[in-house]
Amino acid sequence: MFKNLKNKKKSQSIQEHSDSDLHNIPEHIAIIMDGNGRWAKKRKLPRIKGHYEGMQTVKKITKAASDMGIKYLTLYAFSTENWSRPESEVNYIMNLPVNFLKTFLPELIENNVKVETIGFIDNLPSSTLKAIDKAKEDTKNNTGMKLIFAINYGGRAEIVHSVKSLYEQLSKKQACAEDITEALISEYLFTNKYPDPDLLIRTSGEQRISNFLIWQVSYSEFIFNEKLWPDFDKNELENCIKIYQSRQRRFGGL
Ligand code: IPE
Ligand code: IPE
Ligand code: MG
Repeated sequence: MFKNLKNKKKSQSIQEHSDSDLHNIPEHIAIIMDGNGRWAKKRKLPRIKGHYEGMQTVKKITKAASDMGIKYLTLYAFSTENWSRPESEVNYIMNLPVNFLKTFLPELIENNVKVETIGFIDNLPSSTLKAIDKAKEDTKNNTGMKLIFAINYGGRAEIVHSVKSLYEQLSKKQACAEDITEALISEYLFTNKYPDPDLLIRTSGEQRISNFLIWQVSYSEFIFNEKLWPDFDKNELENCIKIYQSRQRRFGGL
């Protein structure tokens, strides 16, 4: 009973002091940016227009997250399963980093944001890879928020890849099964430099994980937001953070 009262009090106080209450912000936010196609369809526009608008949201949310002091922002941009979409849509998405980073890069540098990626990026078209490599290179000394794009990323493929590399290493050392630990598997994932996400947001109302960070979200808080990604904004992000702050994380304990 007292516990409930305490929680009620806490959520009230969060509502009362909107901006000033951004304490206990998540260190790492991961976002499944979904709903670009539906956003376009609603407006009778081609799906690619939704992806274009989605990139504008990426810019806005990056700035907002960095201003709030988020340390890691991981954005699901293209999954290993998204190759099954029509070729014209895939080609458009693959070209986005080329066009978009031209204007976004100076902004990232100004905001001290460091661009990184997770996923099988070697399989991307060379022009896409070149644009991404330039963004990484130009921001490599930045010390602020890490902006991690998950591109050609899939959680299952990541685990298979990690287990394969681990197997190669272990067999060289003639190691035994007992040497395999959670920490060791984590070390072989693309995300080995990052803490696990504290908060996972998916936009567009869909409530599934779609192969995103399946190992890493074991204890993340999930928020399914109704907005389509091009309509998601700073205000929505702040609301998600407030909801996160009102949750009690237990990690299996009491
Ligand atoms: C997310 O939006 C972007 C990518 C998957 C690349 P969608 O393109 O999936 O949009 P919906 O889900 O069809 O509305
Ligand atoms: C997940 O969205 C992938 C990205 C946001 C990049 P999808 O639109 O591909 O997921 P499903 O197909 O609805 O599960
Ligand atoms: Mg979708």
